[in-house]
Amino acid sequence: MADKRSYHMTPDEFRRHGRAVVDWIADYYERIENFPVVSRAKPGEIRGSLPSSAPEHGESFESMLQDVEKLILPGVTHWQSPNFYAYFPSNNSFPSMLGELLSAGLGVQGMLWATSPACTELETHVLDWLVGMLGLPDAFRSTSTGGGVIQDTASSASLCALLAGRERATKLASNERGCDGHLVAYTSSQAHSSIEKAVKIAGIGRENLRLVEVDRDFAMRPDALDAAIRQDLAASRLPCFVCATVGTTSSNALDPVRAIGEICRRHGIWLHVDAAMSGTAALCPEFRHIQDGLDLADSYAFNPHKWMFTNFDSNCFYVRDRKALIDTLSVLPEYLRNRATESGAVIDYRDWHIPLGRRFRALKLWFVIRHYGVEGLRFHVRRHVELAQGFARWIRDESRFELAAPAPLNLVCFRHYRGDAANQRIMDRLNSSGDLYLTHTRLDGRLTLRLCVGQWQTELRHVELARQRIGEEAAALEHVA
Ligand SMILES: Cc1ncc(COP(=O)(O)O)c(C=O)c1O
Repeated sequence: MADKRSYHMTPDEFRRHGRAVVDWIADYYERIENFPVVSRAKPGEIRGSLPSSAPEHGESFESMLQDVEKLILPGVTHWQSPNFYAYFPSNNSFPSMLGELLSAGLGVQGMLWATSPACTELETHVLDWLVGMLGLPDAFRSTSTGGGVIQDTASSASLCALLAGRERATKLASNERGCDGHLVAYTSSQAHSSIEKAVKIAGIGRENLRLVEVDRDFAMRPDALDAAIRQDLAASRLPCFVCATVGTTSSNALDPVRAIGEICRRHGIWLHVDAAMSGTAALCPEFRHIQDGLDLADSYAFNPHKWMFTNFDSNCFYVRDRKALIDTLSVLPEYLRNRATESGAVIDYRDWHIPLGRRFRALKLWFVIRHYGVEGLRFHVRRHVELAQGFARWIRDESRFELAAPAPLNLVCFRHYRGDAANQRIMDRLNSSGDLYLTHTRLDGRLTLRLCVGQWQTELRHVELARQRIGEEAAALEHVA
């Protein structure tokens, strides 16, 4: 070919620009507290600042990085700010970012063991490590009947668990002929919306999802679950799936996994445990009581991307019986056949989740665990819990506020005594000040503020600032009629 032109970045250019990006990220973390936590961009503002069509001629990398600073940063809500207390955190750490970069650099696609053995084997190994680190049941180890896999999100993990439960209940008939409207699933009224989404996707139907009543602490009532199951059985329906939550999104309620598990065992129903954020607390032996009864679960998931210093996306999904999951999801077209798969000696993770393709996500998890060590991870988790507990004590002692739910770990739900409008005003003013970011929920029908301590760089001084700012906004209310 006569034309020797290439538009690719050269390795030397990549070295130079790569260093600039790493420097930019390090600088970003050094100045992150200078930004308003919540972006102040108006709808359409960011798009309005971008050219209406793609460049015909390539541009310099320097100009791209400048535009990140100038055009993109104003539209960023700073999830990694230590003053971010909204929702549940979306964690990060420097070793995680470096693992992510290496994963992109290697660019492997690990759908089969054969398409990159290290991608599969490191994942299996790190997920087995986590069984020990979190005190999970031995049945979840790859060396037992089960095993773990990294999924993108807790939503995907719950969907896979539901599908496996559906197939176990129908002896794979729903995979063959579809659902007939008789299958029923159960979760608490406080469960994450992803369960409702999974029920829609899996063809169970929203009408066949029972939202089981909760107790005063917003945890699922086992007696209500049992009654709902019996009612469905009496009506010739087929219960196939229960999802218990360890740490609900709304209030961090802890469903009683053991009592729920005993009911599921009695009726032969698949039990999935969703511990999206709070599962990380089990790194610390003193918090493992939150998952008591996990030995009765068929599957379990938690998100290192929420509270284990690993950047999005990273969900660890475990099953007790890997065959049930693989039988549910496996399809083997000719073009994926290979000798390693046929030998039966390898894991092909394509059969463990919805997509075929998969990134090398285990690298970042491996880096995080090796950088911090179990000791380091525990240290930071304990510190977050202590900070949240300190904040909860302040709320208890503050005559203007009350705790709206127990605060077992790092989420504190609280409200001002003057009702919804006052709480809305406090939250709006705090969030628009840029000093911190809180979000709300509704508990017992009342607007409730949530403060979740889980950002990797949050320290005592940040929580003290939050206390001070919340106190100031409460004081400002005194002048409002
Ligand atoms: C308990 C619980 N389950 C599931 C999810 C959904 O998480 P993901 O974004 O990983 O699907 C969340 C998100 O906050 C959650 O708190």
